[in-house]
Amino acid sequence: MLIICASAGGSPGVTSTALGLALTWPREVLLADCDPHPSQAVLAGYLRGMPVGGRGLGALAETYRAPRPESSGGLLDFTLPLDEHAAHRRRFLPGFAHPRSALLFSGYWGRLADQFDDLQTGGVDVIVDAGRLDADGLPAALVERAWTVAVVTRSNLPALAALRLALPELTDATQLSSASLSLVVSGGGRPYSASDIARQLELPLLADLPWDCATADVLSDGALPPRKLTGRPLWRALHSLALKLGGQTVQSDVRSTRGVVS
Ligand SMILES: Nc1ncnc2c1ncn2[C@@H]1O[C@H](COP(=O)(O)OP(=O)(O)OP(=O)(O)O)[C@@H](O)[C@H]1O
Ligand SMILES: [Mg+2]
Repeated sequence: MLIICASAGGSPGVTSTALGLALTWPREVLLADCDPHPSQAVLAGYLRGMPVGGRGLGALAETYRAPRPESSGGLLDFTLPLDEHAAHRRRFLPGFAHPRSALLFSGYWGRLADQFDDLQTGGVDVIVDAGRLDADGLPAALVERAWTVAVVTRSNLPALAALRLALPELTDATQLSSASLSLVVSGGGRPYSASDIARQLELPLLADLPWDCATADVLSDGALPPRKLTGRPLWRALHSLALKLGGQTVQSDVRSTRGVVS
């Protein structure tokens, strides 16, 4: 299963959501930072400055340009451990390190999508942090293989206005593929309810994530976990979303049951 998390802008919590899902995912999983706006948010935040050591999309692009004999082990060679103590293997593919890197990578999304396919064949699900949409939209090669594109938004008017502007592009991108377009509301009820937003935008509601700064700070900034992190509202909501999504069987004959996310 490949899931893409993205936003229309305004930093609503895409990275926190994607990382929280990866940390609570019920199977082996790869979190891939494919945000075209480099921030190294997970490396510097949750992973607290873990050295990238020749891994990530930049190093991968070099092998696409000129294959290195020593890098024949596959995509996982370019990843870091996200959680070494978890029962399931959780890996992290670091993102771009330079503002122009995404542009230079534009011819390689298909190669990366093929490698994601190989991982999934081996039983590893993939969660992509696609960041905020830019002028080029989402990489088509990733959307083509995705099960859903989960667009994350806050529940206030500026966030919803920005999302409305981005929706035609997102709808076009997903309509050309078999991916669904779904909604994650980060902090529903501040002030509009997640269900109202979903109804207005005519999108299936994947999750209404509670506003929970103490948990979000762990995910976005690498803050020290509060006591009983796993009992916190946001953690519990992310965990139950991970179980719901990770429990799906992705085969062509069950894709039509994607309505279960609403
Ligand atoms: N459910 C939440 N409750 C409280 N704060 C949240 C929640 N989700 C995210 N945040 C906070 O919002 C800020 C932005 O989060 P995050 O970096 O995950 O957003 P993003 O959409 O990935 O942003 P960007 O587009 O800049 O990469 C962070 O300070 C994070 O702690
Ligand atoms: Mg982000």
